Amino acid sequence: MFFTKYPHPANFVFVKGYESKDGTTDLAQGKLELTARSFEGDVFHLAAKDPDRWSENLSLEPLDAPPCQCDCGITASSQGDFEFHTDDGKLVARTVRGAGFGVCAEASIFQFEVPEDALFFGMGEKWFNRLELSGIRTKFWNTDVWSDFHWGQWAEHPVDPPYFSFPYLAMRSSSGWTGFLLHNPGTTFMETPGRDTTRVFVEWQRTARHLLLGSECGEPHLWILHADSLGELTEKLQQLVGKTPLPPIWSLGYQQSRWGYGGHKDLLGLDAKFEKLGIPCTGLWLDLDYMDGFRIFEVSKRQFPEGPSVTAGALSRNSRRIVPIIDPGVKQEPGYRVYDDGHTQGVFCKNPEGKEFVGLVWPGETVFPDFTEARVRDWWAGYAKDFRSSGFGACWVDMNDPSTGPVDPTGMLFRSGSQAHALHRNQYALGMQMATFEGFRQACPNERPFILSRSGFIGTSKYAAVWTGDNISNEFYLQQSIPTTLGMSISGQPFNGPDIGGFGGDAGDELMARWFEACFLFPFFRNHSTLDSRLEEPWRYPAKTQKTLAHFIRLRHQFLPFLYQLFVRQEETGEALVRPLIYDFDDASLADVADQFMVGPWLMHAPILKLGDDSREVVLPGREPWFGLSDGKWRKPGRHVIKAKLGSTPLFVRAGAMIPLLPDLPTDNRVELTRPMFFVAVPDGWSGKNATEYVADDGLTYDYQKGKRSKLEVRLEGASIQWEQTQAGFGGIAPTFVTVGVDQVGDLSASSDELRLSGKQFAVKRWN
Ligand code: NOJ
Repeated sequence: MFFTKYPHPANFVFVKGYESKDGTTDLAQGKLELTARSFEGDVFHLAAKDPDRWSENLSLEPLDAPPCQCDCGITASSQGDFEFHTDDGKLVARTVRGAGFGVCAEASIFQFEVPEDALFFGMGEKWFNRLELSGIRTKFWNTDVWSDFHWGQWAEHPVDPPYFSFPYLAMRSSSGWTGFLLHNPGTTFMETPGRDTTRVFVEWQRTARHLLLGSECGEPHLWILHADSLGELTEKLQQLVGKTPLPPIWSLGYQQSRWGYGGHKDLLGLDAKFEKLGIPCTGLWLDLDYMDGFRIFEVSKRQFPEGPSVTAGALSRNSRRIVPIIDPGVKQEPGYRVYDDGHTQGVFCKNPEGKEFVGLVWPGETVFPDFTEARVRDWWAGYAKDFRSSGFGACWVDMNDPSTGPVDPTGMLFRSGSQAHALHRNQYALGMQMATFEGFRQACPNERPFILSRSGFIGTSKYAAVWTGDNISNEFYLQQSIPTTLGMSISGQPFNGPDIGGFGGDAGDELMARWFEACFLFPFFRNHSTLDSRLEEPWRYPAKTQKTLAHFIRLRHQFLPFLYQLFVRQEETGEALVRPLIYDFDDASLADVADQFMVGPWLMHAPILKLGDDSREVVLPGREPWFGLSDGKWRKPGRHVIKAKLGSTPLFVRAGAMIPLLPDLPTDNRVELTRPMFFVAVPDGWSGKNATEYVADDGLTYDYQKGKRSKLEVRLEGASIQWEQTQAGFGGIAPTFVTVGVDQVGDLSASSDELRLSGKQFAVKRWN
């Protein structure tokens, strides 16, 4: 299996005839059925069937397609060429004449014509360190990067493929936005026109003239979506693959992790330190060290002499949870209860000789549950349930690419040894997430589980957040954090974030401070580091840096009501949380802005990403003025050089923004959603309008689905605000409104410009 080589269309045989009557096509190699269907809202599906080549779609998670419209909007020629049109007749996509769909043994390929002005985005977690993706050849194969690539490559260069596969591409052209999704858990690949500059020779740099979307194995299923904007396209995609259910609000708070924290003693020490320094932190994470000899679901007695529930009880005083790691690999050791039980029940993957497949992971020889089988997921859920009941507040599922260490994984077969590794590899982590989620639900049926995963696939959005794997404490990864998170956000995995500060290596003062500044509004916000790196909790840094880290953690918590609203919108509509500028401002000149991003539709962040710099050029998109929260100035759209000394970050709000915050910069984990303070940005003489809906609930349970939620409608018109509570299932919401800027290391509510209003209408303070 080559990560870095791709099937070539010249080796494929293409469909040359299409009989529209019975939807079948004769190929030289036998009988192949190609079907095209259309669905409401300009959604299309192209699929091929051939029992001699493929078993049916093996995806664990079905897609949620809109109602079918048969073949409305689809034109198929007798030569086997397809055209897809929107309901109002606009061309969505056209297959390459005479070479639209081809096969080569069990590999398959779709080829599409590409408009001259096409730009490409998405592709999930890819680490290309850029946003626009022309000239890319890439494979989707969940990879344990540090195990499978030489360190000289990943230390500070893009590596492909990384951990998480989401074979989706968004194409922008003058006819709008088209999304292509390969719903196949087998190995897939894509090629976009342009130049692949990672190749040495010019001849090899030239990529295909067309768009190539293929699978090396597995039944081909291609979904095509069309929309007028990237925002609309992303919502359609999310609807199809599954929106992220509203997470517990504690999981949006600051998370402190390190490979090396042992158990009770370390956790209480961390708890005391966060409390003493007045730094919020809702999750304390345990890596492998809490386990008894790397045996999963076994807790070391030395680390937890009285069991985890005692520690959990002590931490709950400050509303902190313990989040332990769990790997899929089970130590192959007779006498170890999880192994014995799994062995007896036959839950482990087989090798070609019908024995348990063995890899080499942390405990040495390791076997792997076959998460593609429902009965195995049930088996695992039982352990996950007990794990939750024993006091662990959430779960971190790691190494689920799956990592087999130095052992070739292709000998790991699924479904009692009957199905090849590559057919399921990309959804192995998904199965683990589904099973863990289920176990947590069984343990606490009314609590929203929180699971963090390293790898994943289409459907992961419904079960887990994802962190972007092992990175390094250097400028390259600081910069890469942004396009990677943005790529995932528009590719169906909105709840994600990097290891802040970098996992490997030592994060110096400036790097750590800039990383905190850059990512403090990311959907997931966790500081994690490896065993032998320097200690990286905020208090390990000199006073000035510590002050910055503490400030941005507090600011994160002050923004929790706002972030929570973005998650509410994700659950309801599929709207991305953080997103590239081109999501909200459809302008080709913004296509490759990979160092700025929107957080919801009203806030834009342009962090400093080069060490040594204390200013940068920022593009302020659109037509409305922007307010700089770090310097309190209004600016017109366009390019500006913005200063931001260490400890401050260029953060802007659009005219008309209404951002709900906690009223004060918090020093603990309390979040009262019923008392939001709206930060309102209105420039002098502004006559625009905006409206927002704000919800408050308990932030933890599913009670909001049974009506225990309150809602507030807030409307801004010029300089006046009106609000009305439209739902009171969670009691009264008492909003306040303020129009001050966020000072660089300051306290919002401490400002003398703060306005607290109780009336129904008022004139917003003028800025100029
Ligand atoms: C690999 C994970 O990516 C990393 O975050 C973790 O610390 C190590 N495994 C050890 O469990």
